[in-house]
Amino acid sequence: MNIIDIINKKRKGENLTYDEIKFAINGFLSGDILDSQMSSLLMAMFINGMSDEETFDMTDIMLESGDTVDLSSINGIKVDKHSTGGVGDKTSLIVVPLVASCGVKVAKMSGRSLGHTGGTIDKLEAIDGFDVNLKEEDFVKQVNEIGCALISQTSELAPADKKIYALRDLTATVESIPLIASSIMSKKLASGVDKIVIDVKVGEDAFMKNIESAKKLAQLMVKIGKNKGKETVCVLTNMEEPLGNYIGNALEVHEAIEVLNNNGPQDLIDVSITLASLMVSLGKNIDFDDAKKEVIANLENGHAYRKFKEMVEYQHGNIDNIPVSKHVFSCKSSKTGFITEINAYKLGMIERRMNENRFNQDNLIDATVGFILNKKVGDYVLENEELIKVYLNTNDVNVKDILDCFEISDMSVPALPLIYEIIK
Ligand code: URA
Repeated sequence: MNIIDIINKKRKGENLTYDEIKFAINGFLSGDILDSQMSSLLMAMFINGMSDEETFDMTDIMLESGDTVDLSSINGIKVDKHSTGGVGDKTSLIVVPLVASCGVKVAKMSGRSLGHTGGTIDKLEAIDGFDVNLKEEDFVKQVNEIGCALISQTSELAPADKKIYALRDLTATVESIPLIASSIMSKKLASGVDKIVIDVKVGEDAFMKNIESAKKLAQLMVKIGKNKGKETVCVLTNMEEPLGNYIGNALEVHEAIEVLNNNGPQDLIDVSITLASLMVSLGKNIDFDDAKKEVIANLENGHAYRKFKEMVEYQHGNIDNIPVSKHVFSCKSSKTGFITEINAYKLGMIERRMNENRFNQDNLIDATVGFILNKKVGDYVLENEELIKVYLNTNDVNVKDILDCFEISDMSVPALPLIYEIIK
């Protein structure tokens, strides 16, 4: 077998066999196949698409490239949740303890920030002392004892995806439906769970810019799950603006705690309740509406918050010590009007730069920085009224860059749905 023949075949739009995909992926992982060759193959896959069979094969090969987690010693159905990536998306922090408080086991592995999107592990590390690196046996023990655990995905899990994703990021080949589907599903399947709920973000600030492509991605992931005997449900949610009002690692933990204490913004509450209800419905094999009643009750009666505290304490975190920057700067509107757009992509990138600033020589991030939105799309703002608070530790805040993320107009825009569709 020869990589040049494989690239050529895909470039002509033909379907690759399991053995050809395996040859390319394993060769790239071992270093026998060059970055330039893998880049060409990925671009051919991106442009010519992949059949379902090729996507199933790619998922299997990436899944088999590393370890798989054995959760069989955890009693009951283990349900996982994943997001395709958004700004201000702190739903995992809410949903994991909420679902566990309803009696469904959640053994969740999460990742770090990727591009403009945040990562649950970076958020959890904003809690003083929180240990995201549990050994597999401790992870399993914790889920058996308290019903949930949230840890960092190890590098041994689907390592081929990790290496391929890094190359896709550099070669403009991220936004391909089969490549995203196989990337996400290889990691989810390797993490050993029984059922999977995926939040597919849709909008200008997400990988999927419109409902049609988000739907295709969702349908493909559902098919991959079925093919492996793991029931998968996707929910399409709006990412035309940040989710909730807080952006930044420590700030997002504070907002998640607010929701768990029956406060917080309605969009974040609604998406969290939908995701948690789908997970409880799958975990208990009950109707969505019945699951939703349990979820809302456990949010309101404080069970979910107590489960969050229990999880944080079990993982050595100090819930009373989640510092945010003391330096707060208020950005004011230069005009009066309706907010018609908040560019979450740009805000996410600015936040990313701010949190890399302080400690860049050690590659550590500054979890204390970020934003609190005072206005969301559809709100009316007066000239000189605050649009957004900036939590920062350096002086080089570029107010113009931040204000440029807001579009203000004399006419309001119709509100878009928050939850578009559930795909099973
Ligand atoms: N998230 C992933 O894990 N993989 C992708 O390809 C895109 C988003």
